[in-house]
Amino acid sequence: MLVEFLNLGRQPIANGFLKQEDFDKEFFYSLRVGFDPDTQQLSLLELPKAEQMFNGGYVYRSSGSATMVEHFKEAALTLVEKDDANVLEIGSNDGVFIRNIPKHLGVCVEPCDNFASFTERMGYTTYNNFWDTKTAEKILRNHSRFDYIFSANCMCHIPDLDEAFRAIDMVLAEDGIFCFQDPCLQSMLEIGSYDQIYDEHAHIFSPYYIRHVTRKHGLKIFRIRHFPDIHGGSNRYYVCKAKNVDYPETDVFDKKYSLGDMIAWGLSIKGNTDNLVKELQHYKLMGKKIIAIGATSKSTTVYNYAGIGPDLIEYITDSTTEKQGLFSPGTHIPIVSPEKGLDKSVDVVYLGAWNFKKEIMAKYRYQLRDDVKYITHVESKDNIYR
Ligand code: TYD
Repeated sequence: MLVEFLNLGRQPIANGFLKQEDFDKEFFYSLRVGFDPDTQQLSLLELPKAEQMFNGGYVYRSSGSATMVEHFKEAALTLVEKDDANVLEIGSNDGVFIRNIPKHLGVCVEPCDNFASFTERMGYTTYNNFWDTKTAEKILRNHSRFDYIFSANCMCHIPDLDEAFRAIDMVLAEDGIFCFQDPCLQSMLEIGSYDQIYDEHAHIFSPYYIRHVTRKHGLKIFRIRHFPDIHGGSNRYYVCKAKNVDYPETDVFDKKYSLGDMIAWGLSIKGNTDNLVKELQHYKLMGKKIIAIGATSKSTTVYNYAGIGPDLIEYITDSTTEKQGLFSPGTHIPIVSPEKGLDKSVDVVYLGAWNFKKEIMAKYRYQLRDDVKYITHVESKDNIYR
């Protein structure tokens, strides 16, 4: 049973970047988090409706960083071993993975209309639906079951995982492979990246919990790959039917946590957040110009939990054109293009996209001064910030 161990307060839709005239209509909910020590499930206890988060106004583009473009190319090349294998992608966004699959073999599922029409225009049959057994039935009317199913940063968005895995079992070929990746619980706990917790992330997965859910649905995990640099630590799970004798169930698992561990972690992130605010206030008092890079959904959690607004961070730069000219959800920090916002007058940069620190520091090196100070709330083993 899920027990509440953390309350990150009143929060807006994490990707709900908005115009000034919409400030009064903004929707808020309570970001409460529960943990079940028996199954190692970590899930949100209250969720906005799916349509409030994933719709035609969804602005997050997976192709927004060179790191991710390369990462998903590698994912496609290493996953699909058979010629003529048919591949289904769930949550295909702007096609960053599927573009590596021949058009006649790739099928997409994407609930956000803008991105569904994007992959359709690229030449991939796209179902503009949420992932559930109804969508699975619809797909099976037009396609045979799939040799490979891929999904990145999407399974953890689905509140009802029993329904999601039932649907996977329906469309997966008897010898097929379902490969999915999402942020990893152990990494989040170790580096204090509590900003992985926001409305879209209905769950943060531990391999134990994935084992629990897959076993319930006649499936098994046969391999887990860990990527420490992807979204601050992600796991890629390889799943097949339980009766598939080619692959034994894997026995490599992460650390197990107790409820006490989770409560202690909750207290530590409160301390980290207080320190971040004190640091920003200190620079502000010294008259420094503080900005942020990366209008991420993650930073929505930090800004709203910590109460960080335009009084502390003057503006955020983001390379996504759809976010420029808008304001960050909840605390309303203006978002501008990197061309407009990055220059030698900047003293301090809060990295909203700390997960792309290397790419960002290299890319904007010549626009910013050499002595610019980068800060984040995330503790990193190779901490380059402080
Ligand atoms: P990401 O960390 O994937 O966000 P989320 O928390 O929403 O999952 O997104 C990174 C954001 O940072 C995205 O809006 C694009 C932006 N960005 C830049 O502005 N410059 C860059 O060099 C990079 C790599 C990303």
